[in-house]
Amino acid sequence: MPYEMKPLACNPAGMNGLSEKIIVSHYENNYGGAVKRLNAIEQKLAELDWASAPVFVVNGLKREELIASNSMILHELFFESLGASAASAELQWQIEQDFGGMDKWAAQFSAMGKAQGGGSGWVLLAWSHRDRKLINTWAADHTNNFAGATPILALDMYEHSYHMDFGAAAAKYVEAFMNNLNLASASIKLAALKGN
Ligand SMILES: [Fe+2]
Repeated sequence: MPYEMKPLACNPAGMNGLSEKIIVSHYENNYGGAVKRLNAIEQKLAELDWASAPVFVVNGLKREELIASNSMILHELFFESLGASAASAELQWQIEQDFGGMDKWAAQFSAMGKAQGGGSGWVLLAWSHRDRKLINTWAADHTNNFAGATPILALDMYEHSYHMDFGAAAAKYVEAFMNNLNLASASIKLAALKGN
């Protein structure tokens, strides 16, 4: 079964400081591109003669499969992360426990995004199953995910996320993203991961 694009989770016309054009372009071209690429890779893998395939072909296809898979998954989370809404009492409590308060968490998350300006990658708020706590994690590309942690909020720092709206001013994009946080969505994900 080929992978299919999920519907766009946020309302692109309802963002505060992010244009509809950039959200739709990001969804169609970058997210859609990842899904198409993943399906093409899966087709190649299905046709592969595993007994005789050269190791560079095996390595290459499996590497590209991981990149495209995580790009698909993280982009879905990115669009779910947009659409200003409030955190549940549980998410607020957990952030208080693990970061010392919402303001301190937001300052750290935002600083991590700005620190990736001019480069590319992801900043993720993730639930560490090992330590049962929330962590802000750094990812230089789609494959750098913290082992044993599940992201509940994703900030895309690839240039395609902001260049159309902000040029090279990545920090302004990070501030706009922080003004559109869908904390209700993150709250639901946290509750599910904690088994509440
Ligand atoms: Fe992206």
